[in-house]
Amino acid sequence: MNRVAFMTLGCKVNQDETDSMIDLFKKRGYQIVDFNEKSDIYVINTCTVTQVGSKKSRQMIRRAHRLNPDALIVVTGCYSQTASEEVAKIPGVSLIVGNDQKHNIVKLSEEALGKNKAEKPEVLVSQRHELTKFHSLPIATNRQRHRATLKIQEGCDNFCTYCIVPYARGPIRSKPLKDVVEDCKQLVKEGYQEIVLTGIHLGAYGRDLSETLSLADVVNSLSEITDLKRLRLSSIEPTDFSMELLTAIKNSNNICNHFHVPLQNGCDKILDLMGRKYDSAYYEKVIETLRSIKKDVAITTDIMVGFPGETDEDFNKTLEFVEKIRFSGIHVFKYSPREGTPASTFPNQVPNSIKEKRSDILTKKALELKHKYYQQFLGEEVEVLFEKEVDGKIEGHTTNYMVVQANGTKELLGSILPVELLEIEGETIFGRIKGEFNGR
Ligand code: 5AD
Ligand code: SF4
Repeated sequence: MNRVAFMTLGCKVNQDETDSMIDLFKKRGYQIVDFNEKSDIYVINTCTVTQVGSKKSRQMIRRAHRLNPDALIVVTGCYSQTASEEVAKIPGVSLIVGNDQKHNIVKLSEEALGKNKAEKPEVLVSQRHELTKFHSLPIATNRQRHRATLKIQEGCDNFCTYCIVPYARGPIRSKPLKDVVEDCKQLVKEGYQEIVLTGIHLGAYGRDLSETLSLADVVNSLSEITDLKRLRLSSIEPTDFSMELLTAIKNSNNICNHFHVPLQNGCDKILDLMGRKYDSAYYEKVIETLRSIKKDVAITTDIMVGFPGETDEDFNKTLEFVEKIRFSGIHVFKYSPREGTPASTFPNQVPNSIKEKRSDILTKKALELKHKYYQQFLGEEVEVLFEKEVDGKIEGHTTNYMVVQANGTKELLGSILPVELLEIEGETIFGRIKGEFNGR
């Protein structure tokens, strides 16, 4: 039996696409092995959102080549999509599969297996304008996580000045609504109680399909699936909260009490330089509106520090703003210049040492704010969907994305259970499962 090993870098969408590719190989009878083992095929699903993403991707390709110099090395994902020539030069690479060809990966790998390895690697990467279709990968069924993710949208047309993603993922394309509903019903049938909808620019869902279709229609349609207990949206731009979407959120039976709304920066001058289409006052209004329709809603975000031109004073504006918004989680990014994007040639690039410092300060602030958010729930009973075992305990999320651990057995994984919240421990809360399921 042929063996295949996978390594994934980057975001939820990439993780999800790897899950699907694993399934495709399994269906063809391949054995899936750990990436650190000797394998016949290595698939590296790369990321390029920052320089670190690209560097790690290169390291993983080299590691695969060291583990088995005779293996077929298949590189896919965003780094190889945007820098295919660079990737083709790395020793051992036999095949480069574009993001839009992931659904064909088994066939393409098998064709490459039959070829002379001394030949130059085959590069199957399309230009941005050629990326016109939404190619569905099959829904992966090998998930261990008791929480399914479903990609319903691909690509981005925003072109923020720092971002390479529109080049890596192409223009916006959406999965037809009827297919989204069918896929969700299928996942619910398989026993999933929570589905996370993902996309590269999820809030743009539907625009390419019809003038009137939007994410609001998805939220409305999925609210009607009775056994779907939780619907989570992975990330929504502040400018995408239309009246229709806000109304759909308000009326939904199952939408989670959590929204990830990328802020990127709390200083208006920097937001403008970033090409973001809102200012901090607009962002604040959106969050106020969300709070008025969803009590205690958790707001998480992405913030980038060290964008060209960001002064200490500007950074302090971000610090003040995050305090004002009371985020329950912040993913901090250090600005990384990406070749081909406008910001990489902007003046006043910020030295690494200052980026590090700002990142440390903001990361500390983020934990402080998380604790403040968590504290208001201590002593309360909340529902937790238990997803995995960690250090002899079980762990899961609440609807408002708090991470909760409790004593319990793995039979409880996949269930939503009432838990009394007792104590904050770092990034998680320790709680006690109530009633007959008490895990002690
Ligand atoms: N440098 C650093 N972080 C970036 N992101 C996107 N592009 C860059 C870049 N050039 C971050 C943004 C985005 C997240 C997915 O990645 O914060 O929200
Ligand atoms: Fe990385 Fe962005 Fe591609 Fe996700 S979409 S893998 S974050 S470059």
